[in-house]
Amino acid sequence: MKVLLLGSGAREHALAWKLSQSPRLTRLLVGPGNPGTARVATNVPLKADAPDEVVALARREQVDLVVVGPEAPLVAGVADALVAAGIPCFGPVAGAALIEGSKAFAKEIMAEAGVPTAGFQVFTDVAQAEAYAVEQGRIVVKADGLAAGKGVIVAHDAQAAREAVRAVGAMGTAGQRMVLEELLVGEEVSVIALCDGERYVLLPPAQDHKRVGEGDTGPNTGGMGAYAPAPFLSAAQLSEVGEQVIAPTLATLRRRGIPFRGALYAGLMLTRQGPKVLEFNARFGDPETQVLMMQLAEDVLPLLDACARGKLEQRPLVVHPGASVGVVLAAQNYPETPRRGDRIEGVDSVSASCPVFAAGVEEKGGAWLTAGGRVLTVCARGTDLAEARSQAYAATAHIHFEGMHFRRDIGAKGLRAPAVK
Ligand code: AMP
Ligand code: GLY
Repeated sequence: MKVLLLGSGAREHALAWKLSQSPRLTRLLVGPGNPGTARVATNVPLKADAPDEVVALARREQVDLVVVGPEAPLVAGVADALVAAGIPCFGPVAGAALIEGSKAFAKEIMAEAGVPTAGFQVFTDVAQAEAYAVEQGRIVVKADGLAAGKGVIVAHDAQAAREAVRAVGAMGTAGQRMVLEELLVGEEVSVIALCDGERYVLLPPAQDHKRVGEGDTGPNTGGMGAYAPAPFLSAAQLSEVGEQVIAPTLATLRRRGIPFRGALYAGLMLTRQGPKVLEFNARFGDPETQVLMMQLAEDVLPLLDACARGKLEQRPLVVHPGASVGVVLAAQNYPETPRRGDRIEGVDSVSASCPVFAAGVEEKGGAWLTAGGRVLTVCARGTDLAEARSQAYAATAHIHFEGMHFRRDIGAKGLRAPAVK
């Protein structure tokens, strides 16, 4: 099979790495890709969020399947254009991707599907939102539209709630509509389902680390590291998430004529009353995907292909025993204004058993330079979480660039967790 993968982050490098191991793959193109994907596939220049360009390339190259990494192409209607052209696409049509693109739409679907989530109210008037927020005190304020991870503010008192509403209200189009939500407390876990519009298979639960600093301190980021499986959900509880969250969401979207074919990512809070959905994403998580591709013991290509064609067999996936850890190495001053152009050394001295997935990297004269906030994800798999962590951190010690920083506690919460079976 000939596959075109869209995107240019470490998530796409991990997908390309896993796809490239498939005996069914004949050629893998990545548009636009990055210097990491170039090592396992062929990069092609492409504006991944331009539907016409993607369709033209897929036709010209006669690809059998397009796999969409990031949300922007989905929201721009790349999957719709591919479906119209008769080209199988792993990644939902824009109408279904709205489950990520609009928090208000996501809430509407969850209410209709009976999916457990935080109580909420939608506001279009900042003054009304402010009055409600101040009255509630402890509240979460979310911009309705895509806001690159910056559209959510958790407020613990009335003063913070007022400031949060004003900040989100001042955000331009994304902030014109806002969702005010009950503040939930618990452990956060990401559950990603591969879906064919009707059926799904579940990847192991993973845990992201969103704050820049150790102990979950400092500003939010795109994600500073992940590990899987997250030990807070037993196998039985994971199946329940499938039945209570994924299945009814898929059924609701299908009923509305927008079947979801792609990765449905449920960001869950494990509350005392059980798992509740904080957010849906219409794509693979980053950095969760890096560790999930490490844990998946079976060929990913037939799964993605079956989803795209609506022919998935619903069954447990074959995963490796033990655990995988991915540590994000970030550029100086990330997440504010990451510095670019620092020379990255040592990637090739890391053992092949610890893949180093590239994100904010550019190649110049044979050297790798930093070119974004999250630069690399260094991954390792071990017989257990402790071993995976120690191998991942040992691998990071080979790598250096000016201003490089990373969290030293990726997976630490998982080590402290009481074992569930
Ligand atoms: P979201 O983009 O909706 O996932 O929100 C980003 C982060 O804000 C989440 O990962 C949580 O840490 C936090 N968050 C979102 N919604 C809530 C909520 N209802 N209660 C507590 N924290 C939340
Ligand atoms: N890891 C969070 C996300 O991909 O949105």
